[in-house]
Amino acid sequence: MSVKPPTHSRQAAAPAMGGNSRTAVRPRLNPLYEQMQTSVFERMSGLAAKHGAVNLGQGFPDFGWPEEILEAAAGALTEGSNQYPPSRGLPPLREAIAAHYNRHQQLDVAAAHVCVTSGATEAVGAAILATVRPGDEVIILTPAYDCYAPMIRRAGGTVREVALRPPRWRIDREPLEAAVGPKTSAILFNNPHNPAGRLFTRDELDVVAAVAREHDLTVISDEVWEHIVLDEQHFVSLASLPEMAQRTIKIGSAGKIFSLTGWKVGWMVAAPEMAGVAARAHQFLTFSTAPNLQSAVAYGLDEGDAWIEPMKQRFARARDRMTQGLRDAGFAVLDAASTYFLCVDLAQSGIGLDDESFAAAAVERAGVAVVPLSAFAEADPPRHLVRLCFGKKDETIDAGVAAMAKAKKLFE
Ligand SMILES: Cc1ncc(COP(=O)(O)O)c(C=O)c1O
Repeated sequence: MSVKPPTHSRQAAAPAMGGNSRTAVRPRLNPLYEQMQTSVFERMSGLAAKHGAVNLGQGFPDFGWPEEILEAAAGALTEGSNQYPPSRGLPPLREAIAAHYNRHQQLDVAAAHVCVTSGATEAVGAAILATVRPGDEVIILTPAYDCYAPMIRRAGGTVREVALRPPRWRIDREPLEAAVGPKTSAILFNNPHNPAGRLFTRDELDVVAAVAREHDLTVISDEVWEHIVLDEQHFVSLASLPEMAQRTIKIGSAGKIFSLTGWKVGWMVAAPEMAGVAARAHQFLTFSTAPNLQSAVAYGLDEGDAWIEPMKQRFARARDRMTQGLRDAGFAVLDAASTYFLCVDLAQSGIGLDDESFAAAAVERAGVAVVPLSAFAEADPPRHLVRLCFGKKDETIDAGVAAMAKAKKLFE
C-alpha cells in the first residue's frame, strides 16, 4: 500500500470518516508514518494470499518447531498466571537467557543484564529510544532490516547508511570509519545478516568493535539469527569482544531460535545500567509480554540445547535443496550460510526486470512471492536482487522453485 504524502493544508476536499462536510479537516498525522509504505513483508504476504502464491517472501519456517515447547506454553496458559508479568520479564526467563549466553557465547551476564520484550522488533525500538538523542547520527549497514531507519528517525536521530556490496557483503574499515562524524552516537549492527544470509568473520567484528571503541559509540547488536549459522560456522557475539560488553546492547529472539516467529518473544542484554535505561523505554512501549509464552521460552532455553544442532542441519538441507533447484532452473544464486534466506541475482540470471517489478510480476503471474532487496536501503540500493526464504518443507521449496522457473521463462 502506498500512502500519499501529506498536503500542506489541513483542509481536504474529501469528507472525513462518517462525516458529510465538503471541507473536512484533515487529521494532523506524523509524516514519518503517513509517508511510509506498509512493510514489504506484509505487502508480499498479502499478495501471496491474494494470488494463492507460494510465499517465499516473509521469513517464517513452515516445519519443525519443538513440540515440548508448545506443550509447556499450553500448560502455562491453563495452569499458570494470565495476568501482567513483571515489565522486565519473568525471573526464570531472564535467568534462562543469561545462562544460555553463558553456555553458548561465554558472555558473563546475569538476570540483571536482561530485559524481555515483545519480539526483537520491540527490543530494537526500545534500544534505539534508550540510546539515541535528537540530533544523533546512527550508522546502519545496508541492506538493513527495514525497521531500523524509521525507528532511528522516530527517536529524532539521523540515519547514515554504509553500503555492503554483493556478492561478498564484506565490512571494510575505511567506509565504516568514513561514515563516523561528530554527531555519530551509535552503530546498529546485524549479525548474522538479513538479507545477505551471511555471518561476519572475526576480522569484520574486530573492525566494528575498533571503530566503536575509537569513537566512543554504542552498538545495538541485533543477533536474532545467532543460532541459524550453517556449515560448521561458529557465532561470536560482538558483546564478547574486548571492552564491548559495556557499550553493546545485544538483541535476541525466541521466534528465531525455536522457529516460533508468531510468538514475538525477544530480549535485550546489556550492562545493568544500560539495561535499566532500555527497560524504561520498553515499559512504555509494551510494558510486558505474554507470561505463558515467556514460561515456555524459559523451558526451551533451559532444556532445548539438543534441539539446536538438528535444526541447523535441517535448515542446511533446505538451503541446499532450494539452491540446487534454482541453479538447475538457470538462476544465479548467491551463497548463503546463515539465517534462512538466500538471494537471487536477477541480472546474472538473464532477467531484465528490476527487483520490485520482478517481485510484483512473479507473485501475480508465476505464483511465487519474493522480497525485493531495494526495500532494505534508501541510498543507492541494489535493484537486481531478490530474497527468498528457504526455511520450508521440501514440497514448499519444490513448488516455489517451479514457480520461479515459470517466472524466468515469462520474464527473461
Ligand atoms: C535482523 C532482524 N531483526 C529483527 C527481526 C524481528 O524479530 P522478531 O520477530 O523477534 O520481532 C528480524 C525478523 O526477521 C530480523 O531478521
